[in-house]
Amino acid sequence: MLFGFGSKPIVGLDIGSSSIKLVEAEKKRGGWVVRAFHSVTLPEDTIVDGEIVNHAAVVEAIRALIKESGVRVKQVCTSVAGSSVIIKHIAIPKTGPKELEDQVYWEAEQYIPFDMKEISLDFEVVQEDMGDGKMDILLVAAKKDFIDKRLAAIREIGLQPEVLDVDVLALANVFWENYDMTPDNAVVLVDVGASLTKINIVSDSTTIFTRDVAVGGKNLTQEIQNKLGISFQEAEVLKIDACSTGQIPEEVLPLVSAISENIALEVRRSLDFYAASPTQLPITSIYLCGGGSRIPGFSNMLSEMVGFPVEYLNPFAKVACSGRQFNEEYLAAISSGAAVPIGLALRNEA
Ligand SMILES: Nc1ncnc2c1ncn2[C@@H]1O[C@H](COP(=O)(O)OP(=O)(O)OP(=O)(O)O)[C@@H](O)[C@H]1O
Ligand SMILES: [Mg+2]
Repeated sequence: MLFGFGSKPIVGLDIGSSSIKLVEAEKKRGGWVVRAFHSVTLPEDTIVDGEIVNHAAVVEAIRALIKESGVRVKQVCTSVAGSSVIIKHIAIPKTGPKELEDQVYWEAEQYIPFDMKEISLDFEVVQEDMGDGKMDILLVAAKKDFIDKRLAAIREIGLQPEVLDVDVLALANVFWENYDMTPDNAVVLVDVGASLTKINIVSDSTTIFTRDVAVGGKNLTQEIQNKLGISFQEAEVLKIDACSTGQIPEEVLPLVSAISENIALEVRRSLDFYAASPTQLPITSIYLCGGGSRIPGFSNMLSEMVGFPVEYLNPFAKVACSGRQFNEEYLAAISSGAAVPIGLALRNEA
């Protein structure tokens, strides 16, 4: 949880680079129930490396989304992603609760490659005592102006950002809610979005290692656009149609496998980096989500490349849903994109 805490009912608002998604969920006695999922497409290049570059387009899209969904709740939990966000474990000398914030801030300075005046910082105590007089802190930092752009777009519609999360942490949140893990191993969560592939290696209780890489489904659309000399929109329609029917034109096939390979290589690079770190839990499997992970053949290619079983993260494994629209076909269509916004909606503490 970052930069705030929701004490009132909230909705999850995932401002992705290709679409904005909204999820309403409620905690019942038997567990979480998703009541609504809505999404609206964004024009190309509205968000670049997680940063809003076309403010008006985002405002317009959120307004359309709120209108379409009929959601009345004003408080939202939204997220940030990309290279302006830093998530890192740091070991600091054991400190009492009163001085902890100052101590973390002071220690954080050496790990953050930005001016401390320009960042927002939050942290979580992962381990009070690591046995060597140090405590394990999970540090989360992001540039203020980067965050402010998201908050400004949300506030302009009259909504109130209550909680600001990070895509990879929302991903962990939705995973833990739906899957059981043993404490002696780790799994890899991979969200292949349109522009960013987000990787989070988690244990049963904490984020161990994260990385956001600037590759995703959009790269395939652009390759198709260049190869066939058509517009981005036309290429996107052709891609979705080809990928979902499995009828991929011959000239597009090599592009599909090249992009799959690129994304899989980035995931492998992260796993190599993780494997080289001194204390690490063994990885048992990979869970995929995000629209870009639906590129045909991608999950098999990734599994072969890294040598772990790969499966799709089902955000509805234990989280229930209510409403006639949530039939099997609809769930299959939305599941890959719904993981992050569901993770955000579950930050609802009310
Ligand atoms: N069936 C499909 N086959 C292949 N690609 C798909 C399919 N459905 C969606 N996509 C692609 O998935 C991407 C959108 O995924 P998603 O909604 O997870 O991204 P986003 O959240 O908007 O982006 P990001 O997380 O990178 O900011 C687009 O590139 C889209 O073309
Ligand atoms: Mg996304």
